[in-house]
Amino acid sequence: MRKKIVIGNWKMNKMRSDAIETVKELYAAVGDPSEVEYGVCPPFLYLSELVRENTVGIGAQDVFWKDSGAFTGFTSPAMLKDLGVKYAIIGHSERRGRFGKLEVPESTIGSFAETDETVNLKLKACLAHGLIPIVCVGETLAEREAGKTDSVIGGQISGALAGLSDAELDTLVIAYEPVWAIGTGKVCDAAEANRVCAMIRSCLPASLRGSIRIQYGGSVNPANARELFSQSDIDGGLVGGASLKASDFAEVVRAAI
Ligand code: PGA
Repeated sequence: MRKKIVIGNWKMNKMRSDAIETVKELYAAVGDPSEVEYGVCPPFLYLSELVRENTVGIGAQDVFWKDSGAFTGFTSPAMLKDLGVKYAIIGHSERRGRFGKLEVPESTIGSFAETDETVNLKLKACLAHGLIPIVCVGETLAEREAGKTDSVIGGQISGALAGLSDAELDTLVIAYEPVWAIGTGKVCDAAEANRVCAMIRSCLPASLRGSIRIQYGGSVNPANARELFSQSDIDGGLVGGASLKASDFAEVVRAAI
């Protein structure tokens, strides 16, 4: 039996006091249910303080792959682990320059330069340091309309997992996030999301197919979470907008119970 996992991705939102307050409220509302694992990924600046709250699981929204060195502006998996951070999101579509809703000039997309190769390096680094990696995959609307959903995602999965042994991958979490559903309010039909999650499962090494958790992400909210999370191959969610308000996110987490 896979334990469901629901993670909030706050992206670049919230001031410090609101971040602390939201975590306190969330924990007061949800507590420590045995049926579901949950947490939030705040902006990097608040990681240390939120870890110290010692309530909900705390994750980073990205990570670099080297332990230390001349890499201005990056954060290493060793540093995150040392702080008590539990999860790291890797390869979110926004970091790949694949936006559901484009809010930056198209000419700046090159600043969001994640590739399958950097995802693979980051995944290896997270696993080596005992961070639980949440690897994001998903197709754009144009790819879906061109019938390329499964091949695009298959390529992202094989790129991410290259060179890793089955034993190394046992804590891996995958998030299926159709790019067109992220931040758009257009949720993927639950049966179709389940079909893609099952397809992703079939791409995994046979020994891990039954145990690796696959989340759905993209406009999850309190109204649609239960239907999504009750699908056979969906093991929880990666939640953006609806994770910002503690009462909404608490409902989404409880929908996985
Ligand atoms: P959303 O974002 O729930 O706001 O659509 C999901 C995500 O990007 O992880």
